[in-house]
Amino acid sequence: MSTLSGKTALVTGASRGIGREIARARAARGAAGGLLSRSGAELEALAAELGQRAVALPADVGDRAAVEAAVERFLAEAGGLDLVVANAGIAHYGPLLGQDLEKVEAMTRVNWLGTAYTVKATLGHLVDRASGHIVIVSSGAGLRAFPWAAGYGATKAAQRAFAEALRHELSGSGVSVTTVYPGEIATHLHDHEKAALPDWYRGGEKAADAGRLAAAVLRAVERDRRSVAYPGIVRLLGLNGLSPRLADAIIRRLRGGTAAPRRD
Ligand SMILES: NC(=O)c1ccc[n+]([C@@H]2O[C@H](COP(=O)([O-])OP(=O)(O)OC[C@H]3O[C@@H](n4cnc5c(N)ncnc54)[C@H](OP(=O)(O)O)[C@@H]3O)[C@@H](O)[C@H]2O)c1
Repeated sequence: MSTLSGKTALVTGASRGIGREIARARAARGAAGGLLSRSGAELEALAAELGQRAVALPADVGDRAAVEAAVERFLAEAGGLDLVVANAGIAHYGPLLGQDLEKVEAMTRVNWLGTAYTVKATLGHLVDRASGHIVIVSSGAGLRAFPWAAGYGATKAAQRAFAEALRHELSGSGVSVTTVYPGEIATHLHDHEKAALPDWYRGGEKAADAGRLAAAVLRAVERDRRSVAYPGIVRLLGLNGLSPRLADAIIRRLRGGTAAPRRD
């Protein structure tokens, strides 16, 4: 997609954080769009800020029928769709032994199934028009998962595998896929568990800016990049696929022993 000007986009998880910044950056580039998340009031406020061409679509991405209905409503109102950003997500960190499986189920439903529901509800439209782009917001944890984030990392790895396969599967269709690997970004993702974050987690003032990530994502769409890692150092986690021991050694250096306690 060489330019976003005049295009129409749907962003999930648009009420705050990374999704809201992507929606703002997209509107600044002249693209109209749908804003999907559960918080209707926040979406309405953002739609008012972005102008007439923004549509609030309150829905839970973990509810397949609700996602399908929101997409149908958006297509009817906007008349088309060029860019889909599957970004909505939640995080629950903690040692698996003490973690309720309900939290793993919730992350699976929102992060992974929510991505599949969003893509499946929109893909036919893009392929029929032989044009479009899908962005899937995974995580550095999808490249190499960390202790206390086993369940979260699993959902992010699922998104990565899904996006990688889809990019190849759609080759020649006119529809493309970009996967996003954020590092620690200053958002509200961990507000509910700030007191219990693992030692290796830095966040806080060291977290990167969501607006800069959003700009990098839209640049990657315009250049049809396979992936975006932001900050760039996150790409080093991909070494895990080649040499887990090397990746562990780098991670220990950057984040300390709690991020990679085993040395075998
Ligand atoms: N922040 C980071 O450090 C970081 C790092 C790597 C990856 N990520 C990924 O980036 C994505 C965005 O996270 P963020 O950091 O921007 O977090 P955030 O500030 O908490 O925003 C999350 C967004 O997802 C929406 N959402 C949550 N559950 C939903 C559901 N069931 N249905 C629809 N929307 C839902 C939220 O809106 P409602 O509550 O209104 O539904 C909100 O708009 C996530 O996939 C996350 O895993 C973030």
